[in-house]
Amino acid sequence: MTTTPHVDIDRERIAELTAREARALDARTQASRDMYERARRTLSGGVASSYQVRDPWPIYLSRGQGPRVWDVDGNEMLDFHNGFGSMVQGHAHPAITRAVNARMELGTHFAAPTEDAIVVSEELSRRWGLPKWRYVNSGSEATMDAIRIARAVTGRDTIVKIAGSYHGHHDGVMVAIGAVPAELGDRESYASVPYGAGIPQAVAEMTVPVPFNDAPAMERRIDRLTEEGRPPACVIMEAAMMNLGVVLPEPGYLEAVRELTCARGIVLIFDEVKTGLCIAAGGATERFGVTPDMVTLAKALGGGLPSGAIGGTEEAFAVVEDGSVYQVGTYNGNPLSMAAARANLLEVLTAEAYRHLDALNDHILEGCRRVIESYGFPGYSIGVGSKGCVTFSPEPIVDYETFKANQDADLAELAWLYNLNRGVFMTPGREEEWTLSVTHSSEDCDAFIAAFEEMASDLTA
Ligand SMILES: Cc1ncc(COP(=O)(O)O)c(C=O)c1O
Repeated sequence: MTTTPHVDIDRERIAELTAREARALDARTQASRDMYERARRTLSGGVASSYQVRDPWPIYLSRGQGPRVWDVDGNEMLDFHNGFGSMVQGHAHPAITRAVNARMELGTHFAAPTEDAIVVSEELSRRWGLPKWRYVNSGSEATMDAIRIARAVTGRDTIVKIAGSYHGHHDGVMVAIGAVPAELGDRESYASVPYGAGIPQAVAEMTVPVPFNDAPAMERRIDRLTEEGRPPACVIMEAAMMNLGVVLPEPGYLEAVRELTCARGIVLIFDEVKTGLCIAAGGATERFGVTPDMVTLAKALGGGLPSGAIGGTEEAFAVVEDGSVYQVGTYNGNPLSMAAARANLLEVLTAEAYRHLDALNDHILEGCRRVIESYGFPGYSIGVGSKGCVTFSPEPIVDYETFKANQDADLAELAWLYNLNRGVFMTPGREEEWTLSVTHSSEDCDAFIAAFEEMASDLTA
């Protein structure tokens, strides 16, 4: 990641262009506006999840095919949001559609095991080099169960997590995200700030945040926790942070965390809900060459159906197999999800698919880099596998503090409006990365680069 000399962007110009683009988007999404008026009467906030909220109204979609989606106004867009990275296989992929249709005819739910669940665990085991697997229905369930297993294995309660990282919506991990640095306090002893209301402080206190890309700081905090009589059960982390754009691990960082956690008998959990299946066949574990004790998967696993998985060592799963941890769920290993996951893994996300994704990502990252350089735009492009972004910061973002210090939310919002108005669908209102799908082409990526170039040109003219 490099940053080049850059121009100062006029804030008034950002505001002016934001107003212009917002007006244009409002004009072309009137059916979404009408749907919002109807939806909000019974569907709280007009959406199914608060992450879908958008002011003045959300963009309601009607269908997707390959790399494209259509909204209820009939606007056709290339999808770079891809369901928060769940749709790396593209929409309505024929292999997954076939598998799901075939399963529909045979019955969709028994709460009894089926062969597809075995095939999927065999393939995940091969990809991750972890012998044992279980299923859940979402990323939140995966991280919740993995933490429970870690606590049972170690007989300890404390969780260490990375400040700013998101691991789902259960109480134990809704800590130290979206907080302002002043609330978090000193880097050596970040506070356990709950994310939103309804989370008991006593539960939040059991989760201790540490900075990303700083193994010595993690070690010092773990030492202090041990002295205080609360050694951690686990470190749960993304090997590359995926909710502040993309923040890659610095050389040696993951290895140091692996060594440290091994030495202290702490279960290392890589939360691969976003990285898994999206940045390599075997996720971050393969890409960065560091194997944790447990991984959590969801999103891209089910090929567009709700699913999730936990993988781990024999030792980790011993507490499940001896019956001391209840890893349960009515819909775990649901036949429809498993049929989709099987087709997804064996027919869609093949070695060739990852070569295609890597080449596409190189293309889009390089295109964005060229725009940044030629307009002196304050930022840099960064990514891995199918994931990437332009980070609107002249300084490299290495952790949550550098993100908060340099975040340009206004530019992120403007970029989103430029994208939507030029047929590029991205995650609304958030510093999210793109996820490419196996159905995207380099011409599709050129459309993204062109929208970015138009914005860079308008801002620097
Ligand atoms: C890294 C990570 N872990 C866990 C989750 C939670 O997944 P879900 O929304 O499926 O519960 C997310 C969701 O964005 C995530 O990004």
